[in-house]
Formats: sequence, structure tokens, C-alpha cells
Amino acid sequence: GAGKPTPPPGTDFEPVQPNTLDAVVVPEGYEQAIVIRWGDAVCDGAPEFDFDNQTADAQATQFGYNCDFAALMPLDGKDGRGGHGRDASLLVTNHEYTTEEFMFRGYDEENPTEEQVRIAWAAHGLTVVRVERGRDSGTLTPKPSRQNRRITLHTEFAVTGPAAGSDLLKTSADPTGSTVFGTMNNCAGGVTPWGTILSGEENVNQYFANADLVPDEKQRERLARYGIEGTETVRKWERFDSRFDLTAQANEANRFGWVIELDPYDPDSTPVKHTHLGRFKHECANIRLTRDNRVVAYSGDDERFEYIYKFISDKKMKKGDSAHARRHNMTLLDSGTLYVSRFTGDSPPAEIDGTGTLPADGEFDGSGEWIPLASNDKSFVDGMTAEEVYVYTREAADKVGATKMDRPEDIQAHPKTGRIYCALSNNVERGPDGKEAATEPNPRNNNKHGQVLELEERRGDPLATSFSWRLFLVCGDPAAPDTYFAGFPKDQVSPISSPDNVAFDSHGNLWISTDSAGALGINDGLYVVPLEGRQRGHLKLFLTVPKGAETCGPVIEDTLVTVCVQHPGEVDGADADNPVSHWPDGGDTQPRPSVVAVWKPGRHGRPAPIG
Ligand code: FEO
Ligand code: CA
Ligand code: CA
Ligand code: CA
Repeated sequence: GAGKPTPPPGTDFEPVQPNTLDAVVVPEGYEQAIVIRWGDAVCDGAPEFDFDNQTADAQATQFGYNCDFAALMPLDGKDGRGGHGRDASLLVTNHEYTTEEFMFRGYDEENPTEEQVRIAWAAHGLTVVRVERGRDSGTLTPKPSRQNRRITLHTEFAVTGPAAGSDLLKTSADPTGSTVFGTMNNCAGGVTPWGTILSGEENVNQYFANADLVPDEKQRERLARYGIEGTETVRKWERFDSRFDLTAQANEANRFGWVIELDPYDPDSTPVKHTHLGRFKHECANIRLTRDNRVVAYSGDDERFEYIYKFISDKKMKKGDSAHARRHNMTLLDSGTLYVSRFTGDSPPAEIDGTGTLPADGEFDGSGEWIPLASNDKSFVDGMTAEEVYVYTREAADKVGATKMDRPEDIQAHPKTGRIYCALSNNVERGPDGKEAATEPNPRNNNKHGQVLELEERRGDPLATSFSWRLFLVCGDPAAPDTYFAGFPKDQVSPISSPDNVAFDSHGNLWISTDSAGALGINDGLYVVPLEGRQRGHLKLFLTVPKGAETCGPVIEDTLVTVCVQHPGEVDGADADNPVSHWPDGGDTQPRPSVVAVWKPGRHGRPAPIG
């Protein structure tokens, strides 16, 4: 035989075997260490974590629950970045949600205590914590710093952009419609070229009670379009803070579901909610620059049959790392134009039969356009004001005939090719029960495993209002006929289900983390795949996470990979009284969501290049 071809840079490792272990599994020759766990100290005075005696005051100074997005921000001593030290960074993470039955023994879901609810408020949000790199290993160790910070349900946010001050955002506690306390369900995010963090408020519907009792029918419809329905919530926060009761404050729900921006370098800064990016279940927001230094943001609405959006700024980015430049650049997302996407397949619709069988032209592909929804105070949607477009963005996208996708998760432009990659996680409701059936970009009914979309703006120009697209991966068991790996031989690729986050390494490879590989009977993981050359599509499994966990927040550096291990042990029937995972501390301990660092020991004790 000809033997195996040389793996492209960044992919030279023996793939991890899919498994169901209660462990993080890395390739042979690699090492791992926990960076930070739920409950570990972040701020000054944080007490040691005590699972059985947790308090809200302690939680507000400790690492939050269910870490999702992560970023490592350099601390290089430049103006405004402070915190000198070559091997130091700020680790910034989102804490998406709380799972009370795993956080408290004997949790009574009908009657949570006020302290339990307050702990949950403090366990949501974000963490900023200084980490220092080991000289002789890949470890990252949290350190005390004035920059360490927790953002929670009580942190003050400024509302910015064209819907700030709108009547739709006013409440009795905030008659100006411009100040919101807290952020929640922060899923993925993005790092801006000017050194700030974007974070998407995703499934915010679950926190608001009594939507069904709101007297105004139009208001009820608009709440329902966002999945805000019913009476009591699962967590019962409305019993302890009336702002979560829509019969007391119907507009409070309009104050969540935004992209937020945080300057992690300035611990005294007020984070903002950018209304021009629209309100929906934002998975993330990722920025690229245009040739004239305007910025384009991509964002997916992660729900079945929802849409992919793009924003183009009016203003240009100021270069440099100064705090002054950052203050200007933090206004870039507040004026511009918001678009939503419409996809058209190039194969006859009859060839898209819902089974995933490739059409006669050999690809799921086609063209598309970006449809403008609103620009500053001007609406392009009949019957809706600009403020309504920003606050009820889903309704605006419905009206202009945007394309309903299979759960748009992370979306990012490749730093070198400019092509855009979007994880479409899955959609088991496609097809059956009268729901919209397969389309060329969403080609399988009862889609359990998802697909990865590759999109190219016309002439590679981020400002373009039209694009071409193709499916790069149709995920699942490579032995199954309904999967596709960019045409690469399927007997050589790893199985994958439910792509969620994407990242790129310096070689240009795509990294993909998954959320729900249980659909294939395996644990979730982190994969790498070349995008160019003869091994385009050669997907390899780099690591897996413990049972019940999802893999998220991948950060891919040349000699370090970090991932967030979210909700370890969260499987049906398990809880704090009956844990099925004891990761990461082992023995009979409770599982704790954590950030993990992975590296490969090299010569002279220094970490070697990944892959
Ligand atoms: Fe929170 Fe879209 O995953
Ligand atoms: Ca086609
Ligand atoms: Ca996600
Ligand atoms: Ca997800």
C-alpha cells in the first residue's frame, strides 16, 4: 500500500477513539490539567468552595456554573491592558445556565429557597480571571488580580444602539429603558479585534414567568415567538424578584436576548447590550474587518427553524490597544445595518428528498442574499418600526422570507480565506408533523446530527449582500449513507454529531466542538479538520469530555488547547444525590463544570506544537 498521507500541520496525532468514559480523553503523548472549576476563587476574599454549604455571597466571588465560551486575552503590558507579565492572560468565560438539582443535594424544585435562587443569580454571567502559564508545562494557573471580575444577574449594563431608550425596553425600575441589571444564558461569544469580548444571551425565554397571563394579546404573541410561554418557570425566580414576572413587568423580557460587550481589561467598565445586532437567541457574535476597517458581525439564532444574521457597521475601527481606542471601538456595533440571510439551493427541489442523499450535482450548495432589516432609525420591514425590528427581530426576519435553518450555532469567518463557517447543530423537528421539510442547506428530515456550512461572500467582500454556499460536512456516523465529509473517504474520518462551536488554528484548520453526540451513543468532543488541499474533510477527534458533558469554548493556540467542559454528569435520572460523574475531582465528589488545558510535552520541558 501507499501508506497514510502525511497529516497537514496541526492534525498530526492519533485520533481519540469515541468513548463513554467519565474522563477527558486526549491523544497519546498529550497531557491535561484543570485550569479552573465551578466554585474556585476568582475575586479577592473568595472563600474555599464548599459544595454542601454554598452561599450567594461566596458564589459571587467564585467561578460560575456551566462555563461555555472562553477566550484567552493577552496581558502584554500595552497601554490600557495592564497586568504585565509575558506569560499571563485574562481568561474570560461565559456561565450559560444553572442546573439546581446538580448544585444542591435534596433540591426541591417546587420550593427552592431564596438563598438557592440567589446562588443561581450569582452563578450566571461571566468570569474574568488572570491566569499564568507554567514555564515547563502547558498549565494555566488562576492568580489574584485587580482585573479579576464576576459579572452576574446584578451587574449594571448600559443599553446602546438605536433601541436604547425605546418604550419597548422601559420598566418601572428603569423608566429610561437604558440600564439593565445582569446578563443570562450567555452561550458562545467572540473576541473583537479591539480586545473586548462579545457574548450572546441565548435561551433567555426560560427565566420569565406568567407570559400566558399578560393581558395584551399582541404582547403575548410576541413573547411566544421567543418561546416565552406558560406560567411558573422551572427555577421560580419570579417568587424572589418580580422583574421575572411578566404580569408585573412585561418589558423585562425585551431587555435580554442581546449581544453584550465587555472590556475585560478594565474591571471598572460598564458592559453594554448592543441593540443594533437584534434580539434573538444569540449563540454568539463574531467580527471581521472590511478593507476600510469597518466591522461586520455574524450571529446565529440557535433554535430550530431560525435564522443567520449579519451586521455591517457605519463607523471604522480605530487602531491601537489604548483604552481610548477601545472606548471608540465599543461603539462600532451601535450604528450600521442589520441583515438576515436567504439561501437558495442550485439542485432541483425534487432531488432534496430529506434522506441526505447527495443531489446529482454532487453537493448541497447554492447561492444566497443578505436582506436588510433596519439601519439605525430606518426600518426596511413593512409594518414595523426600526425599534420593533431590533426588539422583535425574529418577527422582522419572518416577514422578509429569511431561510429557516437547523439551529444556527457558532459562525465565524476564517482569518485567512475569509470564508464563513457555521455549525448547524441539529433539528429533529424538520420534516415530521407538518414542520418545514428538508431544503438544500438543511437536507435531512429528523436531522439528529447537524451539518457544517461553508459560505463565501461575493468576491470575498465582507460588505457583499450576496454569497455562495455549500455544506462542508453533513455530520453523523461516517458509515451511514446520509453523511458527507467534503468528499473525503469516509472510512478514515471520526464520527461526529451536533456541531456547536468553531475555531481556527494558525495553520488554517477548522476545529469543531460538539453538544449532543449522545445521539451517536458517544461522549461529546473536539475535532479538527483541514479545509484545504487533498485532506480537506479529513475530520479527526482530538479529545472527548466526560459523560453528560458538552464540549465548548475551544481556544486553539500553537502549543495549547483549552476547552470548557459544561454540565458533566448531566444525564437523565442523575442529580446531586445520585451523581453519575465524579469529574474532575474523582472519588465520590460531585461533578463540576471546568476549563481544561491540553498540551503536548516537548523537548527541554517546553510544550510542543499541537498536532
Ligand atoms: Fe447554548 Fe446554542 O448552545
Ligand atoms: Ca447542489
Ligand atoms: Ca453553544
Ligand atoms: Ca448547544
